[in-house]
Amino acid sequence: MPLVLGIESTAHTFGVGIASEKGEILANVNSVYRPIAGGIKPSEAAEHHSRVAPVVLRRALEAAGVSLDSIDAIAVALGPGLGPCLRVGATLARYLASLLGKPLVPVNHAVAHIEIARLSTGLKDPVVVYVAGGNTVITTFVEGRYRVFGETLDIALGNLMDTFAREVGLGFPGVPKVEELAARGKNLIPLPYSVKGQDVSYSGLLTAALRLYREKRYSLEDLCYSLVETAYSMLVEVAERALAHTGKSEVVLTGGVARSPVLSDKLAKMARARGARFAAVDPELAGDNGAMIAYTGALAYASGLTIPVEESRVRPLWRLDEVEVPWRRQTSAAIT
Ligand SMILES: Nc1ncnc2c1ncn2[C@@H]1O[C@H](COP(=O)(O)OP(=O)(O)OP(=O)(O)O)[C@@H](O)[C@H]1O
Ligand SMILES: [Mg+2]
Repeated sequence: MPLVLGIESTAHTFGVGIASEKGEILANVNSVYRPIAGGIKPSEAAEHHSRVAPVVLRRALEAAGVSLDSIDAIAVALGPGLGPCLRVGATLARYLASLLGKPLVPVNHAVAHIEIARLSTGLKDPVVVYVAGGNTVITTFVEGRYRVFGETLDIALGNLMDTFAREVGLGFPGVPKVEELAARGKNLIPLPYSVKGQDVSYSGLLTAALRLYREKRYSLEDLCYSLVETAYSMLVEVAERALAHTGKSEVVLTGGVARSPVLSDKLAKMARARGARFAAVDPELAGDNGAMIAYTGALAYASGLTIPVEESRVRPLWRLDEVEVPWRRQTSAAIT
């Protein structure tokens, strides 16, 4: 069984995973950069990644109980993400592939969040709600690719919550901190609910919530409750329409914010009302991690998808719907 070593370094996490195409995960070792104050600083995150890379790599090999010689291919998340961070992972991947004489496999970070969710939940052909610090996308597989059926027009859901939490002094990670207070909120305050076609916009919601916080007219509990209700309902509305439009019968939740029980609950209710199955990715595999890159790399490698080292430039703006997904072609033929 071919083994693929996958490297994640798109944003705050440096991770190395080892996996097979059948979905065996032999290792998943991750180290997360935490800014002392404010948001993520790309150069500091990259500095963190290069510092921890040798240790993370060694621990992953130890966890899997394999040596580098028994790895068949090196996969790396070439994007989307922050340039300085991406270059750390890409440099290590190119070095290992050249040193070992093994193929290099390009992986799109968003596709990896989707594939690990399908593996972890067993759902075959779901509408995917991918929510994280940098991404908010509703997508599903149609004719060879993951097509986008809705996304944020500005900031991501995780970014909205993290920024709000930071500004009101709740700390990081924002989503669980805001939800904790929201559970004690009672009154729904009107906030901008902004769905445009199939897309959502969260920046006006953030500005309004922060303005109300500064005006001190409402309790922070009520404000958190209203923020959560408004932001999640927008997403559920778009996901429901994507489900109706594509005629699919499954919904999966993935990405760092997939650990939210509140969002899971709302999507589960929507799916149930439409007779669809719902599941969220395993919390251990929700945030950025090396295993999802290794597993997606193994799927790609099994389909013959490799890249010469000299063409493996990083792709900070690599869109999900630009990615070929050859390992699902058969599934698509079976459906249509
Ligand atoms: N327990 C939790 N429940 C819900 N959300 C959480 C939890 N812990 C962290 N998060 C949220 O997850 C988000 C981070 O997601 P992730 O680790 O996928 O990284 P990312 O850099 O945002 O990824 P991407 O590049 O895919 O957008 C943050 O917004 C954070 O608030
Ligand atoms: Mg991510």
